[in-house]
Amino acid sequence: MAATSDQAAEQITEAVLHNLAGTGDARLGEILQALVRHLHAFAREVRLTEPEWMAGIEFLTAVGQACTDTRQEFILLSDTHGLSALVDVLTQDTPAGATESTVLGPFYLPGSPARANGESMAVHDPATPAVIRGRVLALDGTALAGATIDVWQTDSSGFYAVQQPGTQPEDNLRGVYTTDAEGRYELVTVRPVEYEVPTDGPVGDLLLAEGRHAWRAAHIHAIVSCPGYRRVVTHLFDGDRGYLDSDAVFGVKPSLVRTFTPASADDGSTVCTLENDFVLVPEQG
Ligand SMILES: [Fe+2]
Repeated sequence: MAATSDQAAEQITEAVLHNLAGTGDARLGEILQALVRHLHAFAREVRLTEPEWMAGIEFLTAVGQACTDTRQEFILLSDTHGLSALVDVLTQDTPAGATESTVLGPFYLPGSPARANGESMAVHDPATPAVIRGRVLALDGTALAGATIDVWQTDSSGFYAVQQPGTQPEDNLRGVYTTDAEGRYELVTVRPVEYEVPTDGPVGDLLLAEGRHAWRAAHIHAIVSCPGYRRVVTHLFDGDRGYLDSDAVFGVKPSLVRTFTPASADDGSTVCTLENDFVLVPEQG
């Protein structure tokens, strides 16, 4: 690009930044100015052409059009390109001993049914049952009664109920458990499996173009909450399954990997157990 074009490009960037300087909300202004600086620098670095710019516009339009009440393609785009994991790492300051957070993912659906301790949330699934029990504790070891654990996971074919209306009951493999007076919980589910994030939309097309796989390490999602404590959005990963080193959304943290222990149930079938405590940080801590 000729020097005069470089100068013209700089002038455009400066003019936009100048116009943004009056943004009323200071934090919004900071974010928008940084976004413009980096976006313009990106276009300069790759010498973005007009067809490429239009391809980008069309891609983002398709991502938006793929979103529905139950599908969040933008979160999938963010997750598969590490932005969600980056924001998590930048914003979480988890002290040693507390349960670490990870990405929310695109399949969280508020309003899961309340479930009693010991109740199975596997309404419909032939997979290996799993019993996960433990306590919700404060960082100082205090047991937290009345804490809630909002849990969701895929069935054994690798799909969330929200992805398969009409095939899975809508409350299959999701539920909210509450700790008892001693801070204990017991959730009954199925052993998690690896699954592919949706590849039938624009983000899947992008992953294909990038030559990447779409597999997530086997996990169960949980949001653990208790008044007076920081809510933690986390996963429990199955340490005996695959993709722990190449999770498609970069969500694996070593402290979240668990070992499910297979055992024989009274009827001779296999059931997996996992002892797991969640540890929360005081809000003022
Ligand atoms: Fe997931």
